[in-house]
Amino acid sequence: MTTKQTTIVTEKSIPAVPGRPFIGSLREFQRSPLGFSLEISQNYGDIARVTLLGEESIFVNDPDAIQHVLQGNARNYDKQTMDYQLLYPLVGRGLLTSDGDAWLRQRRLMQPAFHRQRIASLGQMMVEETLAALARWQDPARQGVPIAFDQDMMRLTLTIVGKALLSIDLGDEANEFGQAFKQANARFGYDNMLSVMLPWLPTRQNRQFKAAIQTMDRLVYEIIAQRRDEPGDHDDLLTMLLNARDEDTGAAMNNRQLRDEMMTILLAGHETTANALTWTFYLLSQHPEAAAQLRAEVDSVLAGRPPGMADLPRLPYTRMVFQEALRLYPPAWSIARRAVEADVLADYPIPAGSIVHISLYALHRHPRLWDAPDAFRPERFSDNEVEKRHKFAYLPFSAGPRKCIGDQFAMTEGQLILATVAQRFDLALAPGQRIDTAALITLNPRYGMKMIPRLRRQ
Ligand code: HEM
Repeated sequence: MTTKQTTIVTEKSIPAVPGRPFIGSLREFQRSPLGFSLEISQNYGDIARVTLLGEESIFVNDPDAIQHVLQGNARNYDKQTMDYQLLYPLVGRGLLTSDGDAWLRQRRLMQPAFHRQRIASLGQMMVEETLAALARWQDPARQGVPIAFDQDMMRLTLTIVGKALLSIDLGDEANEFGQAFKQANARFGYDNMLSVMLPWLPTRQNRQFKAAIQTMDRLVYEIIAQRRDEPGDHDDLLTMLLNARDEDTGAAMNNRQLRDEMMTILLAGHETTANALTWTFYLLSQHPEAAAQLRAEVDSVLAGRPPGMADLPRLPYTRMVFQEALRLYPPAWSIARRAVEADVLADYPIPAGSIVHISLYALHRHPRLWDAPDAFRPERFSDNEVEKRHKFAYLPFSAGPRKCIGDQFAMTEGQLILATVAQRFDLALAPGQRIDTAALITLNPRYGMKMIPRLRRQ
């Protein structure tokens, strides 16, 4: 896309956050990206200019302005920003990172694979995998020792998305693909940003990352070739992607497109949900009354049997707990866009090429939009309360044409895992566990999340 200059006649200029020469506010941003995005909104308003390493970004925290960027004038805001470019080596130009006609074609091809009914058929597998994961907590529960809860959630959601996509258990320690994927993903850790920004540096992390990508590429292309030769009767997303045809041209995806979309789904579809669940159980451990209400709902609706898809509408508190955790700790905490052409946002001129940052963390804690924004109150998500709120005050899955394609998948998975775990275990934070956030690609617990499981029922 080109960046055409248009003249916009307006007198106002966006409040600027003062910073140091050239680096601007880089130190403040690096020290605490979440706190910084909250402070900007509190001190400079819902639209403010920030300089980071000589580049000016516009931070937007007003629901109307966000609606304009993500929906009203979405065509003018693409993803040609550093946030997404850093992901190219892993996911190439899949759905998350592509733009324009290429993105639209892929979105149309992939949408049916994420249809509500299609997701419903995955419910049973999600619960079975959760039960298998919970079997590993029996011993620690008996002995009263902590488990690495965050890692267990990562493994569980990787298993689930791997089975849904490829019918393969990628969470299994013996699975070469799963191990390589974990290795590649580990590169985006918070103590490793230099290697990520400078991929040509011969650091150990960069070498390991390259080796992991090579392993995955070999395996992905092998899987694709096998499936093309012998389709078998796999009922998974890959089968749907292989069979998908462009409505206009009848063309199928080539191997490179398939590879990029598979990596995209694995990346976008496992760490996000795992972090959401980790923060959910952390919040429940700090709010015993909410944990008790959740147990009461799960016990009375399920009467001891595992949950199924048909139970979900009858588990509203379970859903509300998960939604409130997604508000306080949105896994995809920041969205970036580039203005292709000049625009006007909240009466301010936006020059072509501007980078717009939307901090979902700051939006979800905006004092104008939320009462007691830092308080954990699942009741905010009762139908009544939701109706009173601006539709763009709560965007864990974003909105508009680039809304998360996996939102139903994630909500279903989140509720089913939450109900299955709460039915069987209480989880207490391990003594001495430090709590802080690490705002990476997704919002991680910086020091992990050790928890002690206590068995509720045999
Ligand atoms: C709690 C879990 C999840 C959260 C919070 C989440 C959040 C998001 C957000 C905010 C976006 C928009 C990003 C942007 O515009 O920059 C997005 C896009 C996307 N997500 Fe998710 N996601 C979750 C789970 C999933 C799952 C389970 C899958 C797949 C199985 C998935 C696949 C995708 C894809 C492919 C996109 C790109 C869509 C497009 O641009 O057309 N996500 N997600």
